[in-house]
Amino acid sequence: MTTLLRAQLFHTPGNPFTQAAALAAVADGAIAFAQGRILAVGEFAALRRDYAEAPVSDHRGSILLPGLIDTHVHYPQLPIVGAMGLGLLDWLNTRTLPHEEAFAEPGYARRQARQFLRLLVGNGTTAALVFGAHFAGAMQVFFEEAEQLGLRITSGLVLGDRQLTPALHTTPERAYQESRALLAAWHGRGRVRYAVTPRFSLSCSEALLEVCRALLQEAPGVFFTTHLNETAAEVAAVAALFPWAEDYLATYEHFGLVGSRSVFAHNLHASDEQLRRLARGGSSIAHCPSSNAFLGSGLFPLRRHLAHNLTVALGTDVGAGTGLCLLGEALAAYQGQMLQGHPLTPAQLLYLATRAGAEALGLAAEVGDLTPGKSADFVLLRPPAGSTLEAVLQHSPSAEATLGALFTLARQESVAEVYLAGRPLLKHTGFS
Ligand code: GUN
Ligand code: ZN
Repeated sequence: MTTLLRAQLFHTPGNPFTQAAALAAVADGAIAFAQGRILAVGEFAALRRDYAEAPVSDHRGSILLPGLIDTHVHYPQLPIVGAMGLGLLDWLNTRTLPHEEAFAEPGYARRQARQFLRLLVGNGTTAALVFGAHFAGAMQVFFEEAEQLGLRITSGLVLGDRQLTPALHTTPERAYQESRALLAAWHGRGRVRYAVTPRFSLSCSEALLEVCRALLQEAPGVFFTTHLNETAAEVAAVAALFPWAEDYLATYEHFGLVGSRSVFAHNLHASDEQLRRLARGGSSIAHCPSSNAFLGSGLFPLRRHLAHNLTVALGTDVGAGTGLCLLGEALAAYQGQMLQGHPLTPAQLLYLATRAGAEALGLAAEVGDLTPGKSADFVLLRPPAGSTLEAVLQHSPSAEATLGALFTLARQESVAEVYLAGRPLLKHTGFS
């Protein structure tokens, strides 16, 4: 059965960093979908004629966007959001790593996974590259919960064998066995995919990075994700630990980990030479601006990344990030670029929060915008009655102003409905 959904809509079928007319905006718009796929998108009046028999789901007053895509978020870190006053390495050692030890207990991990995944949806996110936990049992229950909810989740067992807390350390042998088993069970099962996930070079012996290489070689199609060039102190510590490496990126390159399915979080402190090599590898960058500000890590050189033709998408990086809503993350990206004298447009923010994420995760043929043929993954935003957002939108002079107001003011409270493959996952305040 075909459904016709009427709302104001926005999406970026083109790239607004390189094309003039990349944004599609329709004030009285509609999307037609059936069997989970988008059939048509455009003016309501035109679709009404083309799908005269289809029932209309009337969402006038709401705004429809493609499902938001988070390319870097830590499932075990929700309870530590807001741990203030610390730079990265102190924040890890005193707040984050001790908390992540609790995920050794699968019952706790399952409760956290369930809550985390529901909050992703509640914030309008329909696909995510999720940094996992250090325990195989915690990943097993995470994947089970993700499969049950139906989200597009790419994730994997986090690996480290030095410089963390002892309870989080694995061995190369154990890392190989546990990752192989999880990968075999989950990669490509429904909407779940596997990502080989060393925490960062600082927590990995060379033998463990060799294990990552072996896992990628043995299972083509799996993803790779880790942290890179996040803070100056971290970059210096990596240099001390890998004296043979010319820079931080080389510690991954040396083990064959810089490819087109690799997503590196942060990359603030990157030389042009590293940008060039990342681009040559076809790798993507998860830009996490609220985390970068919260930990005082620095300002992201977006211009330089784009000049090197790198794919840059957004990550909330909860728990260092300040929330799970990619609309807020886009505002932080805007602010970070303004502080460097580089304004971004609302269309570029939408692209960073949707289509760019799909590109980074190799999902652009399936999701990221509302092009017919793609999966009907979308979010409906409705300003809460009496909210500041409602007041601003009542007087919006243009589509661009509306989109700018959404990034500035719309958060979880404005996410009214979330559809994945044409199926409502979230309606109003409950889960279907
Ligand atoms: N580098 C290594 N681990 C982490 C983490 O948990 N968060 C951030 N922001 N950076 C990291
Ligand atoms: Zn992170």
